[in-house]
Amino acid sequence: MPGAEVPVLALDGPGGSGKGTVARAVARRLGWHLLDSGALYRLAGLAAARKGLALDDEQGVAGLAAGLDIVFDPGAGPEGRVLLAGEDVSQAIRSEAAGQAASQVATLPALREALLGRQRAFRRAPGLVADGRDMGSVVFPDAGLKVFLTASVEERARRRHKQLKQKGIDVSLPALLKDMAERDRRDAERAVAPLRACPDARTLDSTDMSVDEVVADVLAWAAAAFPGLAPGSGSPAPGGAGELS
Ligand code: DC
Repeated sequence: MPGAEVPVLALDGPGGSGKGTVARAVARRLGWHLLDSGALYRLAGLAAARKGLALDDEQGVAGLAAGLDIVFDPGAGPEGRVLLAGEDVSQAIRSEAAGQAASQVATLPALREALLGRQRAFRRAPGLVADGRDMGSVVFPDAGLKVFLTASVEERARRRHKQLKQKGIDVSLPALLKDMAERDRRDAERAVAPLRACPDARTLDSTDMSVDEVVADVLAWAAAAFPGLAPGSGSPAPGGAGELS
């Protein structure tokens, strides 16, 4: 596998488990690159919908995704920026509709195959924190540390609800809970790369934990798994990262 000597920390788990927030904080703390693989599936879903493709048109969606012009600009703002053919789609891909579309196209084996190379290309020195559903199982099976981050579906829906409210998006909590349970089921039951903890992953339930506590645990595991890490790793990033999302 190209770049196999570059260390990878795989962070997998369901939506709302806090993966995104934790992955960003850990990557910043370690000075490593970050792969938000969910964004790639969201981009594929968005591009397919805009093109009028059916979300189960496997060859169509995979062909489209293979040629997408995607730019991740991590330096722009606290959450970075995502460009699709030059257009800033950072907000558009974060909607619940885009999440549902992503979850649907993510069931297509040809699409998953088409996105593999793009994901592995993020593996660059000094290291990579990879956030997704199948980072430890499929994309980086040789990752030096695999963490499966989870939380109860009620807590995950509550976090997502709060996050959307802060953005001025009004969604009912029961509707969100239903959507989240449906997405969990689809992600866990699909035939290819289903969402589940690898046998060699460390599972962390964040239901009753703060961001800082989760980040501290992951950094401590990273310090043990990657002995070459710079001194000072293993404690949370200063300033705290707010609520898990
Ligand atoms: O993490 P997220 O909510 O941005 O992911 C959106 C969808 O993409 C999710 O429902 C499942 C899919 N996904 C996947 O199948 N594999 C990944 N590595 C990341 C996301």
